[in-house]
Amino acid sequence: MEQKIKELRERVGEAIKSASTDLKELENIRVKFLGKKGELTGLLRGMSQLSAEDRPRIGKIVNEARSQIEQLLAEKNAELKSKELKNKLAAEKIDITLPGRRTIPGKLHPLTLTLNRVKEIFINMGYTVEEGPEVETDYYNFEALNLPKDHPARDTQDSFYITEEILLRTQTSPVQARTMENHEPNSPIRMIAPGRVYRRDDYDASHSPMFTQVEGLVIDKGISFADLKGTLELFLKQMFGNNAKVRLRPSFFPFTEPSTEVDVSCVMCHGEGCKVCKGSGWLEILGAGMVHPHVLEMSGYDPSKVSGFAFGLGVERIAMLSYGIDDLRLFYDNDIRFLNQF
Ligand code: PHE
Repeated sequence: MEQKIKELRERVGEAIKSASTDLKELENIRVKFLGKKGELTGLLRGMSQLSAEDRPRIGKIVNEARSQIEQLLAEKNAELKSKELKNKLAAEKIDITLPGRRTIPGKLHPLTLTLNRVKEIFINMGYTVEEGPEVETDYYNFEALNLPKDHPARDTQDSFYITEEILLRTQTSPVQARTMENHEPNSPIRMIAPGRVYRRDDYDASHSPMFTQVEGLVIDKGISFADLKGTLELFLKQMFGNNAKVRLRPSFFPFTEPSTEVDVSCVMCHGEGCKVCKGSGWLEILGAGMVHPHVLEMSGYDPSKVSGFAFGLGVERIAMLSYGIDDLRLFYDNDIRFLNQF
């Protein structure tokens, strides 16, 4: 009997030691040895066959064995429980050291930045900002600007027609006529009109069938060519710095007379001559002129009472020069590596 108990205790000890994974296994061991039908209980039952003098001794041994086994079970139970908790904590761990996901706020497009600067300069001179439609009628885009149906100058602006009478505007100049029509005849105007224009063209480093213009129109009593020159000089110096020199060359536009092409001294080489200005030291920056009397008349203004000047400039051109960009297409590619630099 003694031997049996000793052997049983060893077996239980082994079983408990190797119960390494879960608490259920441990419970099975407890039932197997200590349960109602367990082995140790079985041994206790066999005690009735023992002699009266053996009984207390063996009883003591069995009870000792029992409490030893219970002790082992309790220890193992605690060990497994803490292991289980550790595993659970490890599995549910949240790494709070990971940086959060930031939303990228985005930036203004270089063309918008340039346009904002142009607007700022003219608004400071008291100009209003007007708008006109990009889908325009033949009348406003051409006829009201002194370009009747068969005028040869229409050929220089190869156009996207939607119908015979409707097209994508080739210039922002139609906003001149629209603005005059919105005013009392002969009342003063000082406005700019920024926006997209469309001309059938190649798409390469310096051409695009869509680009951005800013139109300007000033009408009042006694406006002269000197006002035109002074205004554009002031604008270009604010845009490109006080050292910028301005040069006017005679030109032709059907809606201005006289007309001029305005050059600014090269912003890259400051007039020395370089690749950007093709060695000339000058950059062609905008077209301008005194509003043609016929254009004033067509929109209800009286050329014997008021006069005015108009100009049109390319925003892409100005942005390329101010930022030193050599390919126009970069503005439209939406490459984040490019856009992030502004
Ligand atoms: N509209 C002309 C163009 O697109 C520019 C211009 C505007 C010239 C106003 C004179 C006056 O080429």
